[in-house]
Amino acid sequence: MSGDKRILLIIGGGIAAYKSLDLIRKLRAAGLGVRCILTEAGAQFITPLSVASLSGEKTHMALFDLTEEAEMGHIRLSREADLVVVAPATADLMAKMASGQCNDLATTALLATDKPVLLAPAMNVRMWEHPATQRNLAQLQADGISIVGPDSGDMACGEYGPGRMAEPDDILAAIEAKLSPEVAAQPLRGVRALVTSGPTHEPIDPVRYIANRSSGKQGHAIASALARLGAETVLVSGPTHEPAPPGVRLIRVETACEMLRAVEEAGHVDVAVCAAAVADWRVASQTGSKIKKTADGACPELPLTENPDILKSIARSATNRPRLVIGFAAETDNVIAHARDKLARKGCDWIVANDVSPETGIMGGDFNTVHLVSAAGVADWPPMSKIEVARQLAADIAKFFDPDRG
Ligand code: CTP
Repeated sequence: MSGDKRILLIIGGGIAAYKSLDLIRKLRAAGLGVRCILTEAGAQFITPLSVASLSGEKTHMALFDLTEEAEMGHIRLSREADLVVVAPATADLMAKMASGQCNDLATTALLATDKPVLLAPAMNVRMWEHPATQRNLAQLQADGISIVGPDSGDMACGEYGPGRMAEPDDILAAIEAKLSPEVAAQPLRGVRALVTSGPTHEPIDPVRYIANRSSGKQGHAIASALARLGAETVLVSGPTHEPAPPGVRLIRVETACEMLRAVEEAGHVDVAVCAAAVADWRVASQTGSKIKKTADGACPELPLTENPDILKSIARSATNRPRLVIGFAAETDNVIAHARDKLARKGCDWIVANDVSPETGIMGGDFNTVHLVSAAGVADWPPMSKIEVARQLAADIAKFFDPDRG
């Protein structure tokens, strides 16, 4: 799924509307554009401002708004999206859709759209089980509309049973499956994946540490891309500001030694992608108390010792080597030569090499220009977002595990 896909999210009036705010955040983190219609009832639960702030776009509310119709008519609104999602889809919205009624912006957009529609129903258990709702559901499914959820559980109204809106991660997965045939096919189902990401922090004393500029964006995007293709994915990450990717088991660590331990404890995997910028050295002997300045102005001596090489230990494991081991080579010069050298030195199968000179803006930025180096040769990828690099790499990994499918 490319980064320019757009969702029209219709937020109905139910307590589950608060989860739709999280959904908007997750959709954007997945690289999707989100435009929202908030129904009048929906606006009783969440505000147009929070929807606009999270989506980064104006919140559409009224059908007969002259300014809005002049800027973006409701027909265009319903057709510019690649997918229309209704979350929460209330009993009322489902009833109106099933009978083709349209008396507000949301229902008019739903009747006017020529795009696929996905509903995430949310309502009280009796309302969900009512023959009228079940009739409407059957009609909507017969009309080609897809449904995600509802889940069973405790409800805001105090009752128990089916009717809770599906969790945002599950709605996101359903959206991705609808938008991308390669996601629907789940080519990595049954494959176990391990990804390392982010920097490591190596303590000097209880208040200071050695670190680097890695943001974790690329590693997290790779874990996310593998999980969306169905891989059972463990992400071992140093300290980052990146949110936990959906559907991924995240293990947070600080130091290189902790990262190695977590990787070993993750057990056997089929593919390992080491995207972490592991600090090469740690302070040989850490003090338990803060190092103080001295009267003579002498600087502290900080003898260093080398950290374990996590990639090398995975790739050279005699007993537990994954079928595919992928490393990164972040270089500032002689990118390909250094990458080839690392491929041999570390014993991995592929190296994703990139130029991280400060002028490229790659370190901490959202874009990347990489070269995939393997025994077969070098593939130069065009500049693309880190999300797209991750998806391309996940697609190549899927091809490795099932060449016939590729
Ligand atoms: N790596 C690792 N553990 C380390 C150092 C590096 O797992 N202690 C992994 C990185 O995750 C990356 C690859 O090795 O996949 C290359 O990392 P890089 O820092 O470029 O290589 P180094 O071996 O540290 O070589 P140098 O710093 O001299 O370029």
